[in-house]
Amino acid sequence: MENFLDELVKNVQASGRYQFISEDLIRQVGQSELNKGRKLKEAIKLTRSKLHQVAVAYQETPIPYNQLNETLASLPSDLHAPEMLNFCRETMRRHVSTAERLPILENYYNEIFSALPPIHSVMDLACGLNPLARPWMPLPDDAVYYACDIYEDMTDFINRFIVYTGQNGSASMCNLTRSIPSTSVDLTFLLKSVPCLEQLDKNLIPQLLQQIQSRFIVVSFPGRSIGGKNKGMTDFYSKHFEEILNNLPFESHLYSFHTELTYLLVRINK
Ligand SMILES: C[S@@+](CC[C@H](N)C(=O)[O-])C[C@H]1O[C@@H](n2cnc3c(N)ncnc32)[C@H](O)[C@@H]1O
Repeated sequence: MENFLDELVKNVQASGRYQFISEDLIRQVGQSELNKGRKLKEAIKLTRSKLHQVAVAYQETPIPYNQLNETLASLPSDLHAPEMLNFCRETMRRHVSTAERLPILENYYNEIFSALPPIHSVMDLACGLNPLARPWMPLPDDAVYYACDIYEDMTDFINRFIVYTGQNGSASMCNLTRSIPSTSVDLTFLLKSVPCLEQLDKNLIPQLLQQIQSRFIVVSFPGRSIGGKNKGMTDFYSKHFEEILNNLPFESHLYSFHTELTYLLVRINK
């Protein structure tokens, strides 16, 4: 079985769109397919398909990180310089999830932060390219910004962005179905990632929310599918998430952004 798993990982990584995904996650998904008694070829196909659903599908074309790194190095390092703001917007357009948020970006973070005490540290879980929204977040300049996702090339680029713009913090690779960063922060973002994580482990979310090391958590859900259809998704997600919340020690506040169902959770007694 071990040899089959190594073979599966090698095959999945051989395809360009999957080569920078956390090996730990490829192994986990692959192992679960092999455990179901699938033949190797079928298990490879199903592993790719699952990784596509939870990550690859959000990058309609591969993100050209080398080119982005070069452009970044030619810009003024001030986060609020017009050239930097333009770079952040154009880069966020390359990931479906941040692209959808661009029309509401100005209000999104202002509205969320207006309900919070001063925030000095943030953990952005399953971040995608959202750390590039930092100029639109009303955070003090010295706030610490941590971020993680399953992609090595993405987290490397975000690290460069954090360093180049003189921010405190870092980006790293993670597989949230295996472990949750243990650094304590004021605020955690878990934006539009619950459905992806539930596809990998349908029971993960209550335990994830309880283990997150912050008093405040912003959790959001997509207002529509990747293909653009609405299909009553927000009703479905709100019902599902509120059932999860019923058994957890959080107060919740629902925001009215119609393109992104967004909850602010406040941990009780922490
Ligand atoms: C819908 S996107 C959301 C991205 C970002 N939070 C945003 O709202 O712009 C889902 C993200 O979850 C990441 N992801 C999928 N499985 C993951 C896992 N097991 N651990 C960490 N991140 C994961 C994907 O790579 C992708 O960037």
